[in-house]
Amino acid sequence: MQKVAIVGAGRVGETTAQILAEQETCREVVLIDIREDVPQGVALDIFQTAPFFEFDTRVTGSNDPAAMQDANVVVITAGVPRKPGMSRSDVLDINVEVIDQIIGDVMKYAPEAIVIMVTNPVDVLTYRVWQRTGWERERVIGQAGVLDASRMAAFIAMETGFSTRDITTIVLGGHGDTMVPVPRFCTVNGIPVGHFIAPNRLDEIVQRTRGGGAEILALRKNSSAYDAPGASVAAMIDAISHHRNRLMPCVAILQGEYGEDDIAMGVPCLLSNHGLSQVIDLDLNDEEKRMFRESAASVRADIQRMKPAP
Ligand code: 2OP
Repeated sequence: MQKVAIVGAGRVGETTAQILAEQETCREVVLIDIREDVPQGVALDIFQTAPFFEFDTRVTGSNDPAAMQDANVVVITAGVPRKPGMSRSDVLDINVEVIDQIIGDVMKYAPEAIVIMVTNPVDVLTYRVWQRTGWERERVIGQAGVLDASRMAAFIAMETGFSTRDITTIVLGGHGDTMVPVPRFCTVNGIPVGHFIAPNRLDEIVQRTRGGGAEILALRKNSSAYDAPGASVAAMIDAISHHRNRLMPCVAILQGEYGEDDIAMGVPCLLSNHGLSQVIDLDLNDEEKRMFRESAASVRADIQRMKPAP
């Protein structure tokens, strides 16, 4: 892959850029931010790690949206993070203004790009990008489930002592309190996690996963999570860049899958060099379906209260 543009040189943007560079996922990473000098400073700092990590990826920063020209992937992390005690929906009104501006820039400078939305509320803002651009859903995805699933895997590793390498987890639904971790599909090297963890402990892990972002925010106090979010975005770009056809839970526009339409939600997706090449429509049981529907209702309520697209 030639070029990744990251709009928003905050902590998630910076961490993503660092990992992309270290792994040489692309030839060029440009960080774009409206704050004067900041993206340039962040990019310089990252590029000065090149002698240690021995990468040739060029990392630059700019205040000019034109710097995203011809990017293959545009990652959007710009906007305000929530403060302790706030929900992700509480930042919708302010972040939709920021995103509307950026969507115009993406359509102008990177009309062929795959967009990865990260800014919260991520489901609603992924929907906004799809609605505003009119692009096919293959090129408009959001990062949430990769992060939520990694949190769940970390909790299972902490509970069992097993290597995270052997743990696969899946989290569906909206990236909020109603998200739907699905223990039935979580395994340790193919063995259902229920074999190793008692139901009440597994329930606690599910709850902790739902509150995973809030837990970090409460502990860090003046910052949301950014290490695992950045790694999650980088993993999605790696799948796209190397045409891996990886199955990852991402925010996707649903067109009938899971009985939902005209909404963006977390579902298992195949990621390839087209972006989203397939949504995997799992056969959920009644309880999982109920939770998914509840989560959809909460995302839809936010979509409906969002101000109309300009
Ligand atoms: C998180 O879950 C900020 O939504 C982000 O950490």
